Amino acid sequence: MSHLLDIASLEKDVISSILERSRVLRGDKNPPKVLSGKIVANLFFETSTRTRSSFTVAGENLGARVLALDLQTSSVSKGETLLDTVKALEAMGVSAFVIRHSESGAPHFAAKRTSAFVINAGDGRHEHPTQALLDARTILDKKGRLEGLTVAIAGDVSHSRVARSNIHLLGKFGAKVNVAAPLTLMPRGLESFGPHVHCFHRVEEALEDADVVMMLRVQTERIEEALFPSRPDYHRAFGLTKARFALAKPDAIVMHPGPINRGVEIANEVADGPGNVILDEVANGVFVRMAVLEHLFSEPLA
Ligand code: CP
Repeated sequence: MSHLLDIASLEKDVISSILERSRVLRGDKNPPKVLSGKIVANLFFETSTRTRSSFTVAGENLGARVLALDLQTSSVSKGETLLDTVKALEAMGVSAFVIRHSESGAPHFAAKRTSAFVINAGDGRHEHPTQALLDARTILDKKGRLEGLTVAIAGDVSHSRVARSNIHLLGKFGAKVNVAAPLTLMPRGLESFGPHVHCFHRVEEALEDADVVMMLRVQTERIEEALFPSRPDYHRAFGLTKARFALAKPDAIVMHPGPINRGVEIANEVADGPGNVILDEVANGVFVRMAVLEHLFSEPLA
C-alpha cells in the first residue's frame, strides 16, 4: 500500500490487517514510535474536527511531527494550487500528506505527483476511507463480525463519501446494506456497487431488522434548496426517531459519522440513547489512523 486513497481498491487482507492492528494499538499504552523523525502534513481544504484532530493525535502517538496547514493564513489563500502546496511542503521533508478536499479525486491527483504518502481524509462526494475503517472497527467491537449483518445507511446519500466507503467495505466483508434516501438525495446507480446493496426511499423499509443503523448528516452546505424541505419536514419524513429505531433489531446499534444535525437526521433521544456508539466511532478513529500510518510507513513506496 503506497497511499490510502479509497476502500474500493483496497485489498480485503489489508483492511483486515489495519482493523486488527487498530485493536491491538488501542490496548498499547506505549506504541512503537515508528514515525519518529517523520513529518506528516494535514492539508484540510474543508472543515473538520474529528478527522483532522485524530490524524494529529495518531501521528504524534507514533512519534511524528504533525504540521497542520491553516488555509486562512497559508499561501492557499493567495491562490497557490494543491500541487504547489504539496511540492513546497515535500521540499521541507514532509513524508505523508493527509488531504481533505471538496473536489472528488484531489488526493489521487496529488498522489500521482508526489513521492510522499497520501491519505484521503475525504474527497468531495467520492470516499472517506478512514471513516469506513473506523466504522468497521466499531461494528466488529459491538457485533463481533461483519459477515451476515444488515446495515442500514440512511439520509443524504447523494453527497455522502462516508456512505460510499462504507458500502464498499461492507460488501467486501459479506454484509447486506440497505440504503435509504429521499428521492432527491439518492444517487443513481448505487446498486452497481454490488448485489449487497438494496435501495429504499422510505427509511422505515431500510431499518427493518437492521443490526446496525448508520445515519448520515444532511450536508446543507452542498444542497440546493429545491432538493431539501425544511429541517422539521425532513425530520418528520426521514429522521431517526425512537419509534423508527424500534423497527431495527432489539440489540441494534446507532452510528453517525458526525457532526450531527440534532433534530434533523436524528432525534436527541436516539443520538444519546441506548445502542448509540457515536463516540466509540470517534475514539476508534485515533487507533485506525495510527494503524494506517504505521502500515504505510512499514511498506516500501511503490
Ligand atoms: N466524520 C468526519 O469526517 O467528521 P469531521 O468532518 O469532523 O472530520
